[in-house]
Amino acid sequence: MHKKIFSGVQPTGNLHLGNYLGAIKNFVNLQNDPNNNCIYCVVDLHAITVKQNPNELKKNIRETTAAFIASGLDYKKSIIFNQSLVSAHSEGSWIFSCVARMGWLNRMTQFKEKAGKDKEKASVGLYIYPILMAADILLYDATHVPVGEDQKQHLELSRDIANKFNLDFNSPDFLIAPEPLIQKNFARIMSLKDGMKKMSKSDPSELSRINLNDSSDQISNKIKKAKTDIKPLPDNEKELSGRPEAENLLGIYSSLSDQTLDKTIIEFSGKNFSEFKQKLASLVVEKIAPISYEINKLLKDVKFLDKVLNDGSEKANQIAQKKIENMKKIVGF
Ligand code: TYM
Repeated sequence: MHKKIFSGVQPTGNLHLGNYLGAIKNFVNLQNDPNNNCIYCVVDLHAITVKQNPNELKKNIRETTAAFIASGLDYKKSIIFNQSLVSAHSEGSWIFSCVARMGWLNRMTQFKEKAGKDKEKASVGLYIYPILMAADILLYDATHVPVGEDQKQHLELSRDIANKFNLDFNSPDFLIAPEPLIQKNFARIMSLKDGMKKMSKSDPSELSRINLNDSSDQISNKIKKAKTDIKPLPDNEKELSGRPEAENLLGIYSSLSDQTLDKTIIEFSGKNFSEFKQKLASLVVEKIAPISYEINKLLKDVKFLDKVLNDGSEKANQIAQKKIENMKKIVGF
C-alpha cells in the first residue's frame, strides 16, 4: 500500500538515543521504501510551548535538521522542513481547537507530566500542543505516523479530531484518521539513571541520556555510569521482570544491533554487567559516533541546512496551503 508518512521532532536541545531508536531510525527505514511519501518536520512551534532562548532556538532548529540528515534522512527523497515556515499549521491548529473538546485534552498524560505540580503556570500552548500536532498530521493527509510510545495518546487525539471534524462539517473522508507506527520492541528507551523514567531532553542529569552528538568518550563514560542491579544478567526474558535498568540496557543493545531481545539475552546470559557494558559501549560508539561526526560537520554549513529547510518548506506549503483553503471553505469562511 502507498503510505503517506508524517512525523516531527522538537528542536529543544540535543537529540538523544531515545529519539533515535524510538523514532528517527524508523523514519529512515520508511523513507527507503519507494512506496512511501515521507514528510519530516522540525516542530519549532511546538518548542516554544516552554520558554526558549531565541538565539538558541535557531541553533537548535539547524541542529535537529543536521541530526535528521546525519541519521540518514535524504532531503531529495523526503520533505524536510520546519513548521514555523508553513503558516497553515497555525491556522489549522486554531480550527481544530474549536473542534477538540476540553475533556479530551484533560486526559493527556504528557501535559500532566510536563506541567508538573504547578499547572496554573504552564503555558496555554503546552496544554493545547496535541491540537497543533493534529494539524501537522491532518494537513498532509498522512496515513501513518511513526512515533515513540510516549506520543500514542496524542495520535489518538488526532484521530478523534479528524473524525469529529468530518462529522461536524458533514464532510466524510475529508480528513484522514492517521495510524500510529510504533515499533513493537524498544519503543520506549529509558533513562540510564532510572529504568522507570523515559530518556528525555528535559532530564536535568546529562548522565541520564546519550546525545547524538556526544563524543566516544562521553558515550563510554555514560554507559559505565549507567545504573544497574547486583544480579548477573538473566537467562531468559521472564527473569527481567522487576529489573528495569537491565531490561533497558539489553533493549538498547538489541535495537542497535537489530536483533531480538531473546538473542541478546542468550548472548550475555550469566555474564556480569561490567563485561556487558563494555560491549554495549563499543556498539553505541560504533553506531552513534559516525552520526555525531556528521552532525558536527553539517553544522559548519549553515547555508546548506537553511536551504534544505527553505526548499522543504516550499514543498510542504504547496500541500498544506491547498488543504487549509479547502478546510476554510468547509468551515464556511
Ligand atoms: P519529541 O520531540 O519529544 O520526540 C521526537 C520523537 O522521539 C520519540 N521519543 C522516544 N522514543 C523512545 N524512547 C524515548 N525515551 C523517547 N523520547 C522521545 C517521540 O515519541 C517522538 O516520536 N509532539 C512530538 C513531536 C510532533 C509530532 C507531530 C510527531 C509534533 N507534531 C506530528 C508526529 C507527528 C514530540 O514532542 O516529540
